[in-house]
Amino acid sequence: MLSKNDIERRLKANPHPKIVILTGAGISAESGIKTFRDNNGLWENHSVEEVATPEGFAANPALVYRFYNERRGQLLSGEVHPNIAHTALAELEAALGDNCIVVTQNVDNLHERAGTQNLLHMHGALTWAKCVNSHQRLDWLDDLNSEHKCTCCQPQHAMRPDIVWFGEIPYYMDNIQQHLYEADIFVSIGTSGNVYPAAGFADFANQSGAYTIELNLEPSNGVSMFDESHCGLASELVPRFVKKIVSLT
Ligand code: OAD
Repeated sequence: MLSKNDIERRLKANPHPKIVILTGAGISAESGIKTFRDNNGLWENHSVEEVATPEGFAANPALVYRFYNERRGQLLSGEVHPNIAHTALAELEAALGDNCIVVTQNVDNLHERAGTQNLLHMHGALTWAKCVNSHQRLDWLDDLNSEHKCTCCQPQHAMRPDIVWFGEIPYYMDNIQQHLYEADIFVSIGTSGNVYPAAGFADFANQSGAYTIELNLEPSNGVSMFDESHCGLASELVPRFVKKIVSLT
């Protein structure tokens, strides 16, 4: 796998490639965090509308606070750790430096715990909270509820999980587009390709001249947009991919 002449030829011509990596829930599955679309469209037994939309938060804030408190609690419990796919991407960054960018749809903090620094959390993070009025962000490791008030506004406003819900605009989009535009290689790992704009990144990168690779348990919805697609566990495919790239650069 990944021995196609095409990528080898590209890396011979350009041994200092810029690599942009998009990750989704599949990369964290082997760390014990559930993916989104493996349970009849329910996320930990709740519908997306209930727990991942501004309307759901307005209808039942207590449920939404509790839902993200449980996710944050699990993440910080000491039972969830980065797996070797996260570690391999940190090693890739150590080898390529600023030419390696990870854009994640995941709201866990496993990439940063593995050592990745060039990281963009396009869907927010469980370890962030924000003021509902000013949207000012705070690092947040404790439970969050409606009693917590911001310190940025007068009068003070409520805080909410800093997660990008459906109907909201993902973070860092200008920055991400620039990286995709400059990418020599784009790699999508562990994402089903159901949620835009991330689902369109491969196409954009492809049209900007990048070589595109998918590493996923099964072919994603957007598999036809990739130059190469490999099916398997992230814990197997990602370290192999990183070894290959590091040996060629
Ligand atoms: P999904 O649950 O839609 O897709 C996860 C993908 O990972 C699936 O295609 C699985 O086959 C694959 N997969 C599962 N285990 C794997 C493993 N061990 N190794 C490799 N691949 C594996 O999750 P996302 O595509 O990340 O949005 O979902 C995108 C967004 O939808 C999320 O960020 C979230 C959700 O609603 C927000 O929270 C805003």
